[in-house]
Amino acid sequence: FPLMVIGLVATAIGIALGLLIDWFPVQAATQAEDVDTVYHVLIITSVPFFVLVTTIVLYCVWQFRERPGEEGLDGPNVHGSTGLEIVWTAIPAILLIALCSYAYVTLRDIEEAPAAGEPELIVEVTGQQFAWTFAYPEAEGGAVKSAELILPKDVSVKFNIKALDVIHDFWVPEFRMKIDAVPGITTSFRVTPSKLGSWSVVCAELCGVGHALMRQKVTVVSQERFDAWLARKQAGGKAAAGGGAAGEADGGDKAAIGKTLFAEGNGEATACGACHALSDAGTSGAAGPNLDDVLQGWTPAQLTEAIVDPNKAIAEGFTEGIMPANYGETLTKPELAALVTYLEETAAK
Ligand code: CUA
Repeated sequence: FPLMVIGLVATAIGIALGLLIDWFPVQAATQAEDVDTVYHVLIITSVPFFVLVTTIVLYCVWQFRERPGEEGLDGPNVHGSTGLEIVWTAIPAILLIALCSYAYVTLRDIEEAPAAGEPELIVEVTGQQFAWTFAYPEAEGGAVKSAELILPKDVSVKFNIKALDVIHDFWVPEFRMKIDAVPGITTSFRVTPSKLGSWSVVCAELCGVGHALMRQKVTVVSQERFDAWLARKQAGGKAAAGGGAAGEADGGDKAAIGKTLFAEGNGEATACGACHALSDAGTSGAAGPNLDDVLQGWTPAQLTEAIVDPNKAIAEGFTEGIMPANYGETLTKPELAALVTYLEETAAK
């Protein structure tokens, strides 16, 4: 029975690894706890059987190997063992049925709508190469569109997910929920954010050259701050709020702010440089036209249009629909002006 001892020790190590090491990102939604529990239950039940079966196989390979003098001989002709066969069919069957039922019940529970009378926030998510956009169609006081995903804590959120061009996949690892965004249909899932903070919205389906850049931010805030943010959006966006540093700048400062915006973005939208190469800003994005090649001779009005309404712009290397049509909405007016000033000055160099 050394076999049993090895098996038990290995099993203990397996369970310890599965339980003691924290493999996961933080749990930022109630669904995350349930999903992680399913994972742990599956690990704890499957590791012992994996170890047991592997140990028996390795033992048999060694114990019943061909020894000197046995070359070319057949082994003893062993017929079936009804008892053994019943055991090794019944145990896995029972286990599989139990685990499937458990996983099914968990999945059903985490997809369940909140009880009648409890609020649910509807968020429309649209994926396109290479950005996510969000809309709050049922917001009190008028629908709101945003490049940034803001959610209230402790409220059930239903995401309705669409894609404009190819298949993307909407994923927030901290929520543990993920689903394909497929052109032509609407997919959905629910989460109830349970932790204040900021996490990444990731595209988890290879969708083109800018796939790795298709990352944005989700921020979970208190209900009060969420309401205030919605109201601010409805009142005309951040332009009314002054737009931060870009609001007061002029001249050379403006170009410097534009350069930072170009290379790093404003925390809300993907930076220009993520998709566009521009040597002055030190960026090398390849999804969109290389601006070193195409900027010369553009007027400020044309530059503004290319940012606000990209599908009207024509440039070498330009493909209609790749740049998010609402990119301009992610910038305040002063930010847009700073970007245009910067691009204009860079083109003139
Ligand atoms: Cu969108 Cu990958």
